[in-house]
Amino acid sequence: MTDSSVSTKTTTVRELGAPGPIILLGAPGAGKGTQAMTIAARYGIPQVSTGDILRINVARGTELGKKADPIMKQGGLVSDDLMLPMVQERLKQPDCRRGYILDGFPRTVGQAQWLEKFLETATFGGVRMGPVVISIEVSYNQLLQRLTGRRSCPVDGKIYNVYFQPPQNNEHCDICGSQLVQRKDDKEEVISERLKSYERMTLPLVDYYGKQGRLRRLNGERPVDEVTAETLAIVEGAAAA
Ligand code: AP5
Repeated sequence: MTDSSVSTKTTTVRELGAPGPIILLGAPGAGKGTQAMTIAARYGIPQVSTGDILRINVARGTELGKKADPIMKQGGLVSDDLMLPMVQERLKQPDCRRGYILDGFPRTVGQAQWLEKFLETATFGGVRMGPVVISIEVSYNQLLQRLTGRRSCPVDGKIYNVYFQPPQNNEHCDICGSQLVQRKDDKEEVISERLKSYERMTLPLVDYYGKQGRLRRLNGERPVDEVTAETLAIVEGAAAA
């Protein structure tokens, strides 16, 4: 006779305790940040956005920020010797013990290989877990419109879009009322460089994780709630695997 309160299914590990590492892949503007915020809140784990960490460093004028700023302004990728120690330090924080959403990392095959090594010695809720990798796919024209229309709240980080998710009160945050801001790299000439960097450096990761059997692709061109529902279903499904 089995005790019905004790399940041996792997699902319970993630559902009850530790979702583990979740990687959101996707072009600039695909909706990684939008989805990461919701999933992070759903599981009570941190959203680790390398872009956000870099922007904070730029705003504070740290050494890292000074080096990253000109590269970000041109739409290029910040070098691994700056990125990897920064990511390592973040992933070792106590709030990462049950898992995290990686938003914007890895972005190159080299970064993915580094992460693989890092995860060999990491546990989540006492269990070793490989990443769930979700590729959010959106067409080029839609990406352009999303990036040029993006605004965000400098206080709580909520993301809006003047075309698709406009704030209720023109250019002010629905939650705290702050004036919304546009990212410096959301200018058309920088956007085109970011999209090129993505194609050249990051798109190969779709193949990389596909070959490992880890990749789940989803159509990111649907309403935000639909994309969220599918993302959550993938995470829950992957937990059962
Ligand atoms: P980063 O901040 O990571 O920018 P990114 O990858 O270019 O991605 P975005 O933040 O622009 O887009 P997103 O996919 O999060 O979309 P969002 O949810 O906001 O990186 C910035 C820079 O930092 C890089 O260029 C690089 O220089 C450097 N960097 C960062 N990580 C690095 C790394 N690992 N290695 C080296 N360098 C690194 O959505 C976009 C808009 O669309 C919003 O307005 C949103 O409201 C809207 N939207 C979202 N979903 C939907 C939907 N379903 N329907 C309609 N609109 C939607």
